[in-house]
Amino acid sequence: MGKIKVGIIGVGNCFSGLAQGIEYYKRNPKREVTGIMHERIGGYSIHDIEFVCGFDVAENKVGKPLAEAIYASPNEVRWVDSVSNCPGNVLESPVLDGIGIYMQNRIVPVKSTKTGEQLKKEAVAEIKRSGARILLNYLPVGSQKATEFWADVALEAGCAFVNNMPVFIASDKGWARKFAERKLPVVGDDIKSQLGSTIVHRVMAKLCVDRGVEIDKTYQINVGGNTDFITMLERDRLESKKISKTEAVQSQLKKRLPDDRIYVGPSDFIPFLGNTKLAFIRLEGKMFADVPYNLEMRLEVDDKANSGGTTIEAIRCCQLALDRGLGGEINSASAYLMKHPPVQYGDSEARDAINAFIEGKRKD
Ligand SMILES: NC(=O)c1ccc[n+]([C@@H]2O[C@H](COP(=O)([O-])OP(=O)(O)OC[C@H]3O[C@@H](n4cnc5c(N)ncnc54)[C@H](O)[C@@H]3O)[C@@H](O)[C@H]2O)c1
Repeated sequence: MGKIKVGIIGVGNCFSGLAQGIEYYKRNPKREVTGIMHERIGGYSIHDIEFVCGFDVAENKVGKPLAEAIYASPNEVRWVDSVSNCPGNVLESPVLDGIGIYMQNRIVPVKSTKTGEQLKKEAVAEIKRSGARILLNYLPVGSQKATEFWADVALEAGCAFVNNMPVFIASDKGWARKFAERKLPVVGDDIKSQLGSTIVHRVMAKLCVDRGVEIDKTYQINVGGNTDFITMLERDRLESKKISKTEAVQSQLKKRLPDDRIYVGPSDFIPFLGNTKLAFIRLEGKMFADVPYNLEMRLEVDDKANSGGTTIEAIRCCQLALDRGLGGEINSASAYLMKHPPVQYGDSEARDAINAFIEGKRKD
């Protein structure tokens, strides 16, 4: 088996956690890897993944080896002190709409003299040189233009695309068609955490539906203390994130709730929480004889540990699709692993679908 060579867009906290988590298991080979479905997918283990190039805008990351940049401020993940799975370097990306107003005093972009076209040419050349076959998008919420720039780069460089953030690429018909035409797989959009607020909220909502219990209103309030939550203070950047998170829940209900009876969203930034994320979830409605009920849940998780395992599955499914010569949106992997896939399934149906894909029983 060859290595799975991945290029990273946005060398932030999520990527730092992904690289450090894989290293953690390398150093602790007897530990069972939690957060992945299969030890091997298409023959690939988590240790077959290599991060061969990265792209960012921050002056303390660009020009550095990836293995060093993952520890640069404002990244906060410190699970291991070094990684051996990041042989690549970080190159410059255009800023476009990547840095929100509340992040401007925390990220200093490189003073660039290059045009977008020059940066695109350099990126395509670096991707080809490094042998990356998959680009993994970890740009901040609201980076519509920057994500489209990198989806274009993927098409030009002949790379598959895993879109872990909520700009719609896999779930946008136009973009999905472009990837299908180039026979390049795309998995997206917006990674679902292993045990995150989305999956917990969806499963409890589905439980109510399956038990014939009516849901009248529901909310999911999320707070955290990392840069992702700072960026999400800017309401204008949140539109697709709110759609992604809200639809993930609405899709599980028997009847859609009107907009004023469902609130799902990133809600505030609490600095001392760091990468800890708190979610407060409430469902309320009626049972037999219209007697009311309510259900309250509180979830406390490390936001970065939470998305690493599912991302490893998305990368391996994408490589499997490449190996099989498949292009376009991979519906099964997207439905199981992402909040806003091209097609929403229930979670157990999605699990059956991704297993069928892995076993070669379905093509998407
Ligand atoms: N569990 C989770 O953490 C989770 C779940 C779902 C989605 N996501 C999404 O993943 C994305 C990444 O999250 P994170 O915590 O790593 O964010 P982060 O803020 O730690 O990292 C973002 C990185 O992108 C860089 N960047 C900004 N503009 C750029 C540009 N134009 N080109 C290249 N790089 C640029 C920043 O310098 C930074 O290094 C976010 O959109 C987040 O919402 C995370």
